[in-house]
Amino acid sequence: MDAVIVVEKFSKSFGSKQVHRDLDFHLNEGEVCALIGGSGSGKSVLCRALIGLEKPDSGRIFFRGQDVTDYDENEWRHVRKKIAYVFQSGALFDSLSVEENLLYPLDAHRRDLSRKEKQAKIDEVLEMLGLKGANQLLPSSLSGGMQKRAGLARALMLDPEIILYDEPTAGLDPFNTKNIQDMINDMKATGRAGVLVTHDMPSAFATCDRMSLLMEGRIAIEGPTAELRENSFVQSFVTGEIAYGKAKQ
Ligand SMILES: Nc1ncnc2c1ncn2[C@@H]1O[C@H](COP(=O)(O)OP(=O)(O)O)[C@@H](O)[C@H]1O
Ligand SMILES: [Mg+2]
Repeated sequence: MDAVIVVEKFSKSFGSKQVHRDLDFHLNEGEVCALIGGSGSGKSVLCRALIGLEKPDSGRIFFRGQDVTDYDENEWRHVRKKIAYVFQSGALFDSLSVEENLLYPLDAHRRDLSRKEKQAKIDEVLEMLGLKGANQLLPSSLSGGMQKRAGLARALMLDPEIILYDEPTAGLDPFNTKNIQDMINDMKATGRAGVLVTHDMPSAFATCDRMSLLMEGRIAIEGPTAELRENSFVQSFVTGEIAYGKAKQ
């Protein structure tokens, strides 16, 4: 199977704290891969590195076979049109309406589209994500589930090939969690590969083809979801016997 993203021997420290050491990771064409690990184990930093927002101390990152590690900011801007990062918080601009939030990436990157075409795109994606009519609402007036969907809507404005979902179900009730799971599966059905950063194992099992468990700076275990479901190490993580990125002593 072809890999769309390959990370080789990725190391990253902040001050004296080493977060990743020689980490290898890959994402195959068309799949959704879960990236699971304790809080602070480095999941978000790895995602940020995949779109050039963090520079590795050492190691390489490949996107469709192309070594992008040393890309300059302008080159990364092109990669970011293809890889969308749905931030943990939703990261909408608080002072802009939902529609203005969605218009923002289109104004920045799609000068080829008329205002009318942009509007049609915004309305289409809002409808797809169950946010029809929310155009003029401010993010603060949306529920947590709606904010996450609006964040995803904004990420979809540029028709990304890959979506990095950073804890999209954190803090959501079962109904909204199911909603997000369905959306991830819908995105996969359109051929978009994804990385799902999560602690929410039911969502990982419901959407992911493969799983990678990040622990002590490396992918400690990875494989097809169906196989790892039975894995005792993954089970210990799920039940909380292994926590905070470290095995209990
Ligand atoms: N910009 C930064 N400066 C210093 N430390 C950081 C920075 N970004 C992340 N870290 C640290 O790196 C570790 C991994 O962070 P993160 O990837 O956000 O973890 P998580 O797995 O919870 O997403 C944490 O200990 C965090 O405090
Ligand atoms: Mg995180």
